Amino acid sequence: MTQPVMVESPAANGVRARPRHLLDLAERSREEVAALFDTTDVMAQVMQRTIKKVPALQGFTVGMLFFENSTRTRISFERAARAQSADLVSFAAGGSSLSKGESLKDTLRTIDAMQADLYVVRHRAAGVPYQLARWTDAAIVNAGDGRRAHPTQALLDAYTFKTRFPGFAGFEGIRLAIVGDVVHSRVARSNVTLWTKLGATVTLCGPSTLVPPEFARLPGVSRHHRLEEALEGAHAVMALRLQRERMAAGLLPSTPEYVARYQLTEEALRHAHPEALVMHPGPMNRDLEIAGELADSERSVIEAQVANGVPVRMAVLYTLLVGKG
Ligand code: CP
Repeated sequence: MTQPVMVESPAANGVRARPRHLLDLAERSREEVAALFDTTDVMAQVMQRTIKKVPALQGFTVGMLFFENSTRTRISFERAARAQSADLVSFAAGGSSLSKGESLKDTLRTIDAMQADLYVVRHRAAGVPYQLARWTDAAIVNAGDGRRAHPTQALLDAYTFKTRFPGFAGFEGIRLAIVGDVVHSRVARSNVTLWTKLGATVTLCGPSTLVPPEFARLPGVSRHHRLEEALEGAHAVMALRLQRERMAAGLLPSTPEYVARYQLTEEALRHAHPEALVMHPGPMNRDLEIAGELADSERSVIEAQVANGVPVRMAVLYTLLVGKG
């Protein structure tokens, strides 16, 4: 168990922690994830207090660099920073000088001149957080880069399962089924990386155009095209949004056919474990990849996923800026 949340800010004492980054969960050990979940437990307690604020990151500045739209990730990182008394500087691509031709590097240098200690970065191009990490001394957190990775989403998904699955006793033997547009999904890639690292197995399901064969070559991962087979015995079932904005023409047979074969419904869930949790990273196309009534049902932990985004991201910011306690 990591130390409880500090009552005094190290930055206020002139102590600057050496920055590390969270770019991809492949670079994090199982032990590091366990420590992060322990810190998340502490942060979750903070978020249950009447006054949801601690001075743990007082004196630190968190820069929000969102070159691509976001609701959940952006707001929860801001909440996570403010709840720990950090200062925020925010950048959104829309309305910025990028539209006047300023380069990514010059944009970062401009923002870096305002001396943030950590940047939370989302970009439509894979690898941009790595590039920014080479251009700044600040810590970088990947908040989603192209189709490649969305590490904090996978962390909050696994943390939600850990805290909500009845009688949870570890990820060994747990089966996660991910259904839908896997090929365009950074959430799917990060969840495959994380859940298999923790000892679970992952089944991917969808039409072959959306779940290419190379995914099934990863250890602990299998691929099915029939929904009932993919859900058989699953302890958690995650529906993915059809990402039409990233999709080339011809990848989907037709929307009604997709709904008939792959929509997550109460009926389809009968094949899963009796206490299986229903998940969706959001934003969701209600009644497309998931039936609205299932999304709103007692089996759904979709709102818990959003709520857990705050303590998980508090733990990420704290761990990178201050250390393990
Ligand atoms: N899950 C997720 O990344 O949602 P946002 O795009 O709203 O941040």
